Amino acid sequence: MDLKDEYIKFMEQNGHKQIPSAPIVPKDDPTVLFNTAGMQPLVPYLLGKAHPYGKRLCDYQKCVRLTDLEEIGDKTHHTFFEMLGNWSLGDYFKNESIKFSFDFLTKVLNIPVSRLAITVFEGDDKIPRDEVSAKRWEELGISKNRIAYLGRDDNFWIAGETGPCGGDTEIFYWRSDDEIPKGFDTNDERWVEIWNNVFMEFYQDEDGNITELSQKNVDTGMGVERVVALLEGYDDNYKSSIWKDVILKIEEITGLPYEGNEKAMRVVADHIRTATFIAADDAGIKPSNNGQGYILRRLIRRAIRYARNLNIDINSDFDKQIALIIIDKYGNYYDELSRNKDIVLDVLEKEKIKFNRTLEKGLREFDKLTKNNQNEINKDIAFKLYDTYGFPIEQTIEEANERGMTVDYEGFKEKFKEHQAKSKAGSIGKFKGGLAGTSEMEVKYHTATHLLNAALKIVLNSKDSHQMGSNITPERMRFDFTCDHKLSKEEIKEAEDIVNKWIKEDLTVVRKEMTKDEALKSGAECRFIERYPDEVTVYEIGDVSKELCGGPHVKHTNVLGHFKIVKEEASSAGVRRIKAVLED
Ligand code: SER
Repeated sequence: MDLKDEYIKFMEQNGHKQIPSAPIVPKDDPTVLFNTAGMQPLVPYLLGKAHPYGKRLCDYQKCVRLTDLEEIGDKTHHTFFEMLGNWSLGDYFKNESIKFSFDFLTKVLNIPVSRLAITVFEGDDKIPRDEVSAKRWEELGISKNRIAYLGRDDNFWIAGETGPCGGDTEIFYWRSDDEIPKGFDTNDERWVEIWNNVFMEFYQDEDGNITELSQKNVDTGMGVERVVALLEGYDDNYKSSIWKDVILKIEEITGLPYEGNEKAMRVVADHIRTATFIAADDAGIKPSNNGQGYILRRLIRRAIRYARNLNIDINSDFDKQIALIIIDKYGNYYDELSRNKDIVLDVLEKEKIKFNRTLEKGLREFDKLTKNNQNEINKDIAFKLYDTYGFPIEQTIEEANERGMTVDYEGFKEKFKEHQAKSKAGSIGKFKGGLAGTSEMEVKYHTATHLLNAALKIVLNSKDSHQMGSNITPERMRFDFTCDHKLSKEEIKEAEDIVNKWIKEDLTVVRKEMTKDEALKSGAECRFIERYPDEVTVYEIGDVSKELCGGPHVKHTNVLGHFKIVKEEASSAGVRRIKAVLED
């Protein structure tokens, strides 16, 4: 039995239309890196917009949640998971929704009612206690002492801080072979949550005010990995049929058994699966030092690090072998995996080569320190390992621990923040509040950095190329940006030509005040958005560039003269640096 297929069939029989899984990288939502729940792509429809597929929808949705990478390696956490969901957009509400869930669990999956327990929302000063749901569960055969009322922390659901939301009712499954208790102790971890029915009838605004939506919706979510493992009788998700072939492959590659090597094998399996899905997304994400690209990089590097611990030859194609199983297994459900198979393999291979190169050098640094009998990796070395050798800090800590050394983690964090602040100063903050005494030339260079930033996105064909910093003197500009390769002569020339074309076109530079939200929605380039005040300034240059920035800027581009790139070089791992001048 395939859980996904059975679920969709059941929901279709009950009047739902299946909608395709949305891409893992949200298309129109710059506020999140990845889709984290089935409802996320449906927000406009929960708010009242008519959905082309109607009012009853269902799907399986790819999700990525990265709250704590360190948790990965235990029995139940994954960075990627699939979520089953059914929705009512102003159609059915609590009674029908609960009945659908109950019937699917007890009649299709044949889970005995005796293994189920329920939580419902106990209410607060804004929303009443949910007696309706409790009554419905009782009618269906759940005994009263298996229904617990809990508060906001447990039985209220909202994605983030604002948006559609509501009280929910959650279904728990008794996972253990121990005798099933008559009552329901919500703190007993043998009760595992399997399905959430959210009654989205409210909207929460930035001040925490709750208002009623124009329609009462239902949003449900059930994690595939967890439910499959439970149904198959495992408390370790990686033993279920979802992971079996991947773990077998890792056992085959390493010649080691899963037992005793669980953590490393789970990390390798989980991270390569997630990296495969991110790299396959049509958004074209490549490993980089920010945004989704940075997550992709960390996942691949962490997988390599754990592969080393399993004595896998990291220069072998172990990652490819695992990715191919994933692509094969999920390709029928998510066609981008099959379509973009070569891209995925290429991303994994390139990042592996890049990391393995610096990995050796970084490890040599460690050896030097060990020889000198140092027992702490100080903040400067930890930062150098990060910045120059591409070691995520967690790897430095792990390598250090293996050698009986500690790491000045707090110091590293400080240095990291300083570094970010410097990039910020270079890229945006430096000009905030106006530059008293800024020379005319500096203002021109400032506008030129915006043009170069926009031109590089075209040349690199990537929204994912971002400014990492800039430095301006009256004589020249320096510009750092994320990029995974040395720019070719052609690319440099193309960037110059585009900037010079825009200068000649004498584009108008317009300064606009708006709220952060509006700026995000307008698609303006907003690095370090969290550091800006609520009211921000956006500079638009013709229709070629739009960036959050304090200014000042020239009013028309033709005063810039001729733009010339004089140097292109590496700045740090994954970051390139351009030096350029404006000539008469
Ligand atoms: N949005 C809810 C969740 O993610 C139900 O789908 O749990």
